[in-house]
Amino acid sequence: MKLFLDTADPKEIEALVATGLVDGVTTNPSLATKTGLSLVDALDTICKLVPGSVSAEVTALKSEEMISEGLRLADIADNITIKVPLTWDGLTACKALSSLGKKVNVTLCFSPNQALLAAKAGATFVSPFIGRLDDIGQDGMELIREIREIYDNYDFQTEILAASIRHTMHIRDAALAGADVATLPPGIFRALAQHPLTDKGLAAFLKDWKRGGQSIL
Ligand code: E4P
Repeated sequence: MKLFLDTADPKEIEALVATGLVDGVTTNPSLATKTGLSLVDALDTICKLVPGSVSAEVTALKSEEMISEGLRLADIADNITIKVPLTWDGLTACKALSSLGKKVNVTLCFSPNQALLAAKAGATFVSPFIGRLDDIGQDGMELIREIREIYDNYDFQTEILAASIRHTMHIRDAALAGADVATLPPGIFRALAQHPLTDKGLAAFLKDWKRGGQSIL
């Protein structure tokens, strides 16, 4: 499963790219506004830091304007993926942009039927929002499982990008459900490798090693 960072903050991205485990980035208008940076400048910096897909979201509501905004965003760098909302206009824009050879991430997906339409529109990624479904008492992970089954039934190549991740268990469950990608806020990315027994075990090993008085180098 690919791991993307769900942030528009170049500093956070630079720090975590150093792990060698960041496969891409997703941004949205809320995350972009939070940085206080110009969107184009921030995306330009991020695309240089991360060789993989960097999703940049359009803000227009009509398909023609979405296409114009998408093409402008795609001009920033070769690794930009244009993000459009899962509306009829967004699907129309997705079809047009994917026909031009552009990568498209169809976002704000909350149902299997929406995901089916995104795949038919040629989306590179579809982004089901797990956490926001959980927030309203629905089962976000069940949506991932259903999309996986539908895409496998018809051999759709659209990648399932688990979004709106709220905790590390979402990552485990999305991986088990067959999501192709998960996009994580930086704090959750960092928490993935943490386990108290790892810390405890390491402390014990090093205490014993110190007592032996040896060194490796
Ligand atoms: C990513 O593409 C989404 O925009 C993001 O994961 C949404 O997360 P949120 O529901 O925590 O805002």
